[in-house]
Amino acid sequence: MTDSSDHYIKANLAYWDQAVPTHVSSEFYDVAGWISAGSKPRPHEAALLGDLNGLELVQLQCHFGLDALAWAASGAKVVGVDFSPAAIAAARRLAIEIGLDTRARFVLSDVRQAFASLEGEQFDVVYVSLGALCWIPRIEEWAKQVSLLLREGGRLFMHEIHPLALALDATGRTFARGYFEDLEPAADDSSESYVGATPSGTTQVTYEWNHGLAEILSALIGNQMRITHFEEHTWTSFAQFEGFERKSSQYFVPPAQWPAIPLSFTLMAQKEPTN
Ligand SMILES: C[S@@+](CC[C@H](N)C(=O)[O-])C[C@H]1O[C@@H](n2cnc3c(N)ncnc32)[C@H](O)[C@@H]1O
Repeated sequence: MTDSSDHYIKANLAYWDQAVPTHVSSEFYDVAGWISAGSKPRPHEAALLGDLNGLELVQLQCHFGLDALAWAASGAKVVGVDFSPAAIAAARRLAIEIGLDTRARFVLSDVRQAFASLEGEQFDVVYVSLGALCWIPRIEEWAKQVSLLLREGGRLFMHEIHPLALALDATGRTFARGYFEDLEPAADDSSESYVGATPSGTTQVTYEWNHGLAEILSALIGNQMRITHFEEHTWTSFAQFEGFERKSSQYFVPPAQWPAIPLSFTLMAQKEPTN
């Protein structure tokens, strides 16, 4: 696919490829701790999704595979999709290391072509975790892939950064970009990744798109998806703003004096039958 976003997507891919080794060895992801704790899915996600034993799950933008592998460890048959060769290679290595390579497969693809890359395979669950949507130019393209990848009755689960929080700068006090989807992305030249370390290699600019809540919900509804759960949270999964405190792995809260604003959201939706 060639469109006006290609230049930005290429820059983002270069960034993600170079970030992978730093992320794999980071304290933030704490791979050794995750393995020794049983590589389980996050409790609030497991409570909402229930038992996935024997079901088929695809994670969109799986990075180096931790979330997908957590669902494989709890009995699901999983596929992880990501456009970064370094991420896919690291995910495959991790799957072998923890003995889950028979239940977990990792496929290199731009998320916007995931259904074609998976040759029309369909799943019981599409799973998306924090920091995925901001890399996608048009939410409509993404929602279409979600729907194509699901069997009728299949479910989408996502926990994402709230678009209000994405519109703020690093202080969390000033708007740095718009709330709604814009054709032009916001450029980010900060050298620090959310894991708190600078990825090896040179600093480079990445490009992100925000998508308002109504845009996300409407895109899903317009692609045969019925919203079944929606929740806004005053916590998030990384130190997005100055002064945030890590309460537990991937559970961060703002300082006490912060106003109660939504920092992340959880959404579930079900694919409706074709009429
Ligand atoms: C922050 S991670 C999200 C996954 C998960 N929350 C995690 O922390 O492991 C973002 C991932 O999106 C991937 N990504 C960004 N743009 C993409 C695209 N257009 N197609 C497929 N993957 C993409 C990156 O390679 C990266 O692995």
